Amino acid sequence: MAGPTDREGIVMAKPPLSMKPTGWFQVAWSTEIGVGEVLRMTYFDRELVAWRAHSGALTVMDAYCEHLGAHLGFGGRVEGEVIECPFHGWQWNGEGRNVCIPYERHPNRGRRIRTYPVVERNESIYLWHDLDGRAPFFEVPDIFAGFGDGSNRADYYPMATLFRERLALHPQYVLENGVDSAHFKYVHQTPIVPVFTRHDFAEPVSYVDFTITFDGDEGQSIEDVRSGVQAINGGLGVAVTKSWGMVDNRTITAVTPVDEHTCDIRFSVYIGRTTGADPVKAERRAQDFAAEIIRQFTRDVRIWQHQRYSDPPALSASEFTGFTAIRAWAKQFYPDGRGGSAAELRVLAADTGPRPPAQ
Ligand code: FES
Ligand SMILES: [Fe+2]
Repeated sequence: MAGPTDREGIVMAKPPLSMKPTGWFQVAWSTEIGVGEVLRMTYFDRELVAWRAHSGALTVMDAYCEHLGAHLGFGGRVEGEVIECPFHGWQWNGEGRNVCIPYERHPNRGRRIRTYPVVERNESIYLWHDLDGRAPFFEVPDIFAGFGDGSNRADYYPMATLFRERLALHPQYVLENGVDSAHFKYVHQTPIVPVFTRHDFAEPVSYVDFTITFDGDEGQSIEDVRSGVQAINGGLGVAVTKSWGMVDNRTITAVTPVDEHTCDIRFSVYIGRTTGADPVKAERRAQDFAAEIIRQFTRDVRIWQHQRYSDPPALSASEFTGFTAIRAWAKQFYPDGRGGSAAELRVLAADTGPRPPAQ
């Protein structure tokens, strides 16, 4: 039977790569969850709730109450540092522990709602996902501190963002874009094909730098180009970039699996502040530039959402090193160490943890 179709009526292929990779994945922007608020979300085929305690602490946990299975995202309330279930008032803390049964003398100390490691960084909320329940073994790259250049948020205008939901693609498609030199000319109309100056895939956080220009004509030599991009990939889910030699911009690309077929994409763009006679005009120019970066990104998205993973791909000579390196590096984030999803069955079979009730 054909699978589900996307908005354009095209059958969505289940990516051959596992949709349950390990790593940090963005699940929201920080401003989406204010103090005392509860947000429902579905990622990695699980119903989740994110809530912010009065102290500001953020928790992401499975959505179902361990008592009788109410969904905490429908009527659950934040009370100080705990979330209270709408069904019988049981209270759960940020570690998923039951701390109060209002009509009993003691809480249930044995039961726990599964919680996930979270970090808030660069106005984004990242969740650590690992089928084996391992603790985070790398950090989410910081768009400012990560480049070690002394920059910080205050040097940039407010962030511009793009959110695209439930697209039939895989995080690895998006990441491979970073080593795909030829696409810049065809998808983004750069005058010449960029040249890579760094491919460092030694660790779970990897680095890719390239020389690129969006100006000039096709006849120019890459040796004369004085602009480029540095990218830091934090696993498969998050990539941050810094540009140099052009309008100062930084981006965060985050791709998060929703279910076996689709991912959400979040794209955040910061443009560097400029000093000048007319700050209003400068900010408007920055907004226009951010809009153009987002427009370029949507050109990639249109390719990715209809792409089918090619393995092994037909690589040209100049593409071979980059793609081979990134694909070998990517394997460490998959449950079977290869990219397939077979090992998920093993892990899920061994998962004797709580299950949401049948619906
Ligand atoms: S189901 Fe949550 S308190 Fe009963
Ligand atoms: Fe691209």
